Amino acid sequence: MKICKVLAGVSVVAVAAAGVYAADVFPREIAPMAAIDTASFTDDQIALGENLANLGDCAACHTPRGARGMEGGVGLPTPFGVIYSTNITPDPETGIGNWSFAAFERAMRSGIDRAGNHLYPAFPYDHFAGTTRDDLEALYQFLMTQDPVRADRKANELGFPFSVRPLLAGWKLLFHRETAFVPNPEFTDEENRGAYLAETLGHCSACHSPRNALGAVTRSAGLAGGAAEGWLAPPLGAVSVSPLGWDIDDYADYLFDGWSEHHGIAGGPMTAVVDHLRDADEDDVFAIAAWLARITPAVDKDTRAARLTAIKALDLAEGFDPGFGGQQMPQEVQRGAQVFKDNCVKCHKQRISDTQPVSLGLTYAANAPAPTNVFNAVLYGIEPGLGATARKMQPVALSAENLAEVAAFVRWHFTDQPAWTNLAAQASAAVQAKAAPGH
Ligand code: HEC
Ligand code: HEC
Ligand code: HEC
Repeated sequence: MKICKVLAGVSVVAVAAAGVYAADVFPREIAPMAAIDTASFTDDQIALGENLANLGDCAACHTPRGARGMEGGVGLPTPFGVIYSTNITPDPETGIGNWSFAAFERAMRSGIDRAGNHLYPAFPYDHFAGTTRDDLEALYQFLMTQDPVRADRKANELGFPFSVRPLLAGWKLLFHRETAFVPNPEFTDEENRGAYLAETLGHCSACHSPRNALGAVTRSAGLAGGAAEGWLAPPLGAVSVSPLGWDIDDYADYLFDGWSEHHGIAGGPMTAVVDHLRDADEDDVFAIAAWLARITPAVDKDTRAARLTAIKALDLAEGFDPGFGGQQMPQEVQRGAQVFKDNCVKCHKQRISDTQPVSLGLTYAANAPAPTNVFNAVLYGIEPGLGATARKMQPVALSAENLAEVAAFVRWHFTDQPAWTNLAAQASAAVQAKAAPGH
């Protein structure tokens, strides 16, 4: 009798646990809406939603190249395979036209679609989760009043077990927290506004923080630098590797124009970020700059000016002597100096006008822990953002050998940083990746 009771108790607990488990692994469907009811939508809310969509960069992932709407189908390469974005226009059949606000909010906070499928965190809901309800409501109103576009979803290219969506429940249990943004009492309102936007919709740490082996952002590491689409994303704030440090004007220039005279260009996946910030509310972009300045230690004016002068002095004249008057230098660097003279110095030279590129010594590419962004600039060129359209660099066709050499030279000549190691192997991998299909 006693034993029976205990067993019954145990099984009740077990069934309850299984129930919770099943709810997490197989979430319920949220009923489709018959039609969108825009009666309660206001122009102000829709405009606010559009601003938030720019700050959240939704179009960067949901709008295919050359398209106008967010009809999805953009392939996002991840270490686990390619994941395609979905149609978030209000088309009732192929988009989110029959999604209630509750369904949208659940997707943005919990990463679950209307039908109850878990979504991959390639959709940065792990950042979006902290967005306020009012902001999500505005975003929803904006999305639901866009033109519907019919576009079926593309099948992901993921191997087993990553193709099994219910397993994402386990990933979420380990890594996903739906916590609201907590303002820092020491920050001004503007700085907290910037922090809120950066940490939630802006999802800056999706690229600027390291990820663990299961693709989850390592929050404890802060903005210590990460990677995105084959580019290194620099550490931000206190851990920035910029030789000059950043002040608020540098951040504002970089975020509005995609270029700063003290740091260079916003290349790779950062270009789309700044292009969308350009369309966002100016006060919000300033707030992000104010927050970044707040978390960046100030470099004193004189030190900064002296470093700037020293770095600019490294710029070379077009007719420079690649032997540097017989100076001791590693062989690879020596050959790189010639490659630089033949291919680069006609643009990357002593500056006589603001239209020329900044000194390479100022850029993250040259100061980064690996040569990745230098390789990318050379192999793919620089397609500047809308605020710096003249700063285009065409790809330069170099052999893997010459690429390694020129990178060795850039590092050696323009920075104080230790030489990059394993350059030859990294350069040949980069050249091969470019030649592979898909590029
Ligand atoms: C870094 C790329 C990226 C960004 C930025 C992004 N998304 Fe997505 N989004 C995705 C991907 C990929 C999916 C599909 C995930 C899946 O299939 O599991 C997705 C799915 C969604 C879904 C679920 C749709 C469905 O049919 O299941 C919604 C809603 C959504 N995104 C809204 C947004 C909004 C709103 C923004 C901007 C605030 C945004 N996304 C920004 C990549 C992105
Ligand atoms: C999709 C990935 C991605 C997202 C999202 C992203 N960044 Fe970046 N960011 C990059 C990459 C890559 C670079 C390096 C660009 C280069 O070197 O040309 C960069 C560069 C920067 C730099 C220059 C830092 C330096 O030391 O040179 C700043 C500042 C910056 N990002 C701020 C932000 C902020 C603020 C956000 C959020 C609003 C953000 N980024 C979101 C990928 C991203
Ligand atoms: C036709 C002119 C031109 C040539 C040739 C050229 N570049 Fe550039 N490069 C640019 C411009 C313009 C930029 C954008 C940066 C700016 O304006 O500050 C740029 C950017 C870069 C960057 C990114 C810097 C940053 O701001 O983050 C690197 C690295 C780079 N170039 C390396 C090279 C190397 C190495 C070569 C030779 C193999 C080369 N470039 C040849 C014009 C050129």
